[in-house]
Amino acid sequence: MRKIGILTGGGDCPGLNAVIRGVVEKCASEGIEVYGFSAGWRGALSGEGKVLTLKDVEGIQTKGGTILESSRTNVMKEENGPERVRKTLENLGLEGLVAIGGDDTLGVANHLRKLGMNMIGVPKTIDNDLSCTDYTFGFDTSANIAMEAIDRLHTTAASHARCFVVECMGRHTGWIALQAGLAADAHLVLIPEFPMKFEEIMAIVRARFERNERYTIIAVAEGFELADMDEEDVGVDAFGNKLLLNKEIAKVLAQRIEKEMRANTELPENRKYFECRSVVLGHLQRGGAPSAFDRILGSRMGVKAGELVVEKKYGNMVALQGTSIEIADLDKAVTERKLVDAEFYGAAKLYFK
Ligand code: F6P
Repeated sequence: MRKIGILTGGGDCPGLNAVIRGVVEKCASEGIEVYGFSAGWRGALSGEGKVLTLKDVEGIQTKGGTILESSRTNVMKEENGPERVRKTLENLGLEGLVAIGGDDTLGVANHLRKLGMNMIGVPKTIDNDLSCTDYTFGFDTSANIAMEAIDRLHTTAASHARCFVVECMGRHTGWIALQAGLAADAHLVLIPEFPMKFEEIMAIVRARFERNERYTIIAVAEGFELADMDEEDVGVDAFGNKLLLNKEIAKVLAQRIEKEMRANTELPENRKYFECRSVVLGHLQRGGAPSAFDRILGSRMGVKAGELVVEKKYGNMVALQGTSIEIADLDKAVTERKLVDAEFYGAAKLYFK
């Protein structure tokens, strides 16, 4: 009997369960058994996991998180990591592995592929920053959660005539902040791809104040850095990614904006105590049920990954291109990051006022 392994690595993401279900359904329809490793590459190193039955995956596309659990284990940093994965696959009689993850998890899959192991990648990240695919599942759900949060901030901001800085996830790119900020009518969106100076931000805040706008909402991606701010040491994870939630750029900005407005702006008596609050959405953006879009994208990618297993087309990644699920180059996907481009950000800027 043919057998294949599957794992989910990196940050969990709405839509992961839909992919797992798709792979198991497709493989089962061709008599291939799927072994689910626990907690990402950690399971692939130790062998911990179990065979997934059709019963195990019934209806799971409606649930957030991952039934396989996840971790940020980096095989390349573990002693004899690649050899241990090879041994695990051999011991369990698995001909290869479907790795569902972002650039870190798929980067490991790509290394193992180069060492001769059979790998198939499925692109996952709420950050939407993997190239070769138009969208990653999880992004739509997260952007909608962030949009609803910003929608809600409008009324409290207006009631108190305050400025709010709301931080969205996105360590290297601003897809969530831009999508949510534009959809929910934020007055300014700050993203890592387009650094700004503090004075440029203040010009927009001051102009709104001078026009007598009651409040201001700024959406910021966690990876945004002021063009004139010193690098801060915030620590890194096993893949060397900065732990940006420690930094809370929204808090830094809110404090600076409030201080600057109070110190250097002519404030009328009734608005003497200009207030700026920060909101960090954090992991709320990753939790809970996936949107319809993510359930369907995950399901389609899962079936396609299963098809690649059936046809033994290893070394590839599945991807959404236009409206079709296609085969993409795993190597390219993990070496190039998909950034928000100048055309998109330029169009959005029209609304920054
Ligand atoms: O998975 C991507 C992501 O959600 C990033 O947007 C964020 O910076 C990071 O994961 C948070 O990681 P952790 O869950 O390890 O705190």
